[in-house]
Amino acid sequence: MAYETLLIDIEDQIGTITLNRPDALNAFNNQLMTELTQALDAFEADDDIGCIIITGSSKAFAAGADIKEMQELDYMSAYQDNFITRNWERVTRCRKPVIAAVAGYALGGGCELAMMCDFIICAENAKFGQPEINLGVMPGAGGTQRLTRFVGKSKAMEMCLTGRMMTAEEAERSGLVSRVVPLDTLMDEAKKAARAITLKSRPIVMLTKESVNAAYETMLLQGVTFERRLFHSMFSTEDQKEGMEAFIEKRDPHFKNR
Ligand code: HXC
Repeated sequence: MAYETLLIDIEDQIGTITLNRPDALNAFNNQLMTELTQALDAFEADDDIGCIIITGSSKAFAAGADIKEMQELDYMSAYQDNFITRNWERVTRCRKPVIAAVAGYALGGGCELAMMCDFIICAENAKFGQPEINLGVMPGAGGTQRLTRFVGKSKAMEMCLTGRMMTAEEAERSGLVSRVVPLDTLMDEAKKAARAITLKSRPIVMLTKESVNAAYETMLLQGVTFERRLFHSMFSTEDQKEGMEAFIEKRDPHFKNR
């Protein structure tokens, strides 16, 4: 499938989506979000892909929703078209792992999209922020909720109320990103992490993702019970047998379900 606002690459079981509207710093217009949904649908359906990376350019992961497109919205059309929900949240329903590789600006919807991914690896020049307050609106794709869960109320509140951007170093210190790496190694590092994931048993990876995500949706006792049920079920898989046998035989595991 040909996309106008995305570049697509598939290699070594890793599907990479590069946001590609350079003239608008990858701002999300309706076309880009629709194409992103289609690309994620295609990657999820492709058995040869075990991990997905979403990235942008070295200057901008994404500068947020397209302000020029949003400017004309009124309440009724925003509500009736189901603006945002309609095509913004596909990534949160991905069953395969999704890594955000962020360089440059990740602002507004850009920061929100990165937070919808499973983890964020960023370059030293990354800048995260929720500057919607400067436009007379507030975050609308989960920013007030997910940022608060990542970095705590005080920092999230300050960022949402003042529009201040966070550096890569601050983002790592406060738990928003898993790692900061030099800009020229960003894609190598993201691909290394993705490759490590694709070498594991795919169903075990997907169940593990589901279980970590349950930590955000459930109370502790429910979450731990859910985890325990999934853990028990793993002893019915060939990959558990292979993983433990390989350890005992002091060799690398070769999981069948990859
Ligand atoms: C549309 C955008 C854009 C955006 C940048 N551009 N961000 N177009 N929507 N969000 C365009 C500019 O108009 C300009 O086009 C070109 O990209 C380059 O941007 P500059 O501003 O010239 O670059 P620079 O001076 O380097 O500044 C970079 C920046 C700034 C700090 C990132 O562009 C900026 O503040 N952008 C807006 C960030 C923002 O407010 N994001 C939140 C959006 S609201 P021209 O044609 O002039 O060259 C949001 C709500 C989400 O995300 C809620 C869910 C839908």
